[in-house]
Amino acid sequence: MSLYANQDAKKQAAAQAALKHLPQGGILGVGTGSTVNFLIDLLPQLELTGAVASSQATAERLEKLGIEVVDMNQVGGLDAYVDGADEIDRHLNMIKGGGAALTREKIVASIAKKFVCIVDDSKWVGQLGHDFPLPIEVIPMARSAVARKIVTLGGDPAYREGVVTDNGNVIIDVHNLNILDPLELERTINDIPGVVTNGIFALNKADIAVVATDHGIEERFAE
Ligand code: 5RP
Repeated sequence: MSLYANQDAKKQAAAQAALKHLPQGGILGVGTGSTVNFLIDLLPQLELTGAVASSQATAERLEKLGIEVVDMNQVGGLDAYVDGADEIDRHLNMIKGGGAALTREKIVASIAKKFVCIVDDSKWVGQLGHDFPLPIEVIPMARSAVARKIVTLGGDPAYREGVVTDNGNVIIDVHNLNILDPLELERTINDIPGVVTNGIFALNKADIAVVATDHGIEERFAE
């Protein structure tokens, strides 16, 4: 028996519960995805002066609500960045990029003092990469070369057909990686020529996870 009717209700509950961790006023970094979309709809309550968006889709949704989208070059730093995740572990390392926005998400998160991750409990995993393939954003001409390097790391790369990122690049989804050391693997994959970035967020992980479970909201911190 769950407190919530479905997964969307959980995502909405996580978004609602995250509000108290976000600054009133000021400029907020905003992620991408269905969970964050629930949060964006609540943002008018925070009376922000603006937001830095991690994707075109998020920028459009913010603008529809009358929230000014600010160029990151005009911002010295952010008090907080809020985003969902495809997977998150007990150290608050994440896999992100299911929505192909990983690079801009990583960039915006990098200037924030606090990363607030909002998820339903289906995203909480014992080990990253077991179920969700790891997305990598790649410069188009390097697609095959990067895929071959990924095979030497033990992964099974799959080109995400028909997807072009906001930066004009492509996505390779890597299946069957044994991600025992997320920090090390994030660095290793980012060092492959042609990789823009990969979807492991361990170098800059979440500071708090607001998790919607069948029994209600749990705030979890890194073990
Ligand atoms: C987009 C992302 C999203 O945060 C991630 O895919 C989670 O999305 P959702 O909230 O729709 O499950 O990394 O690139």
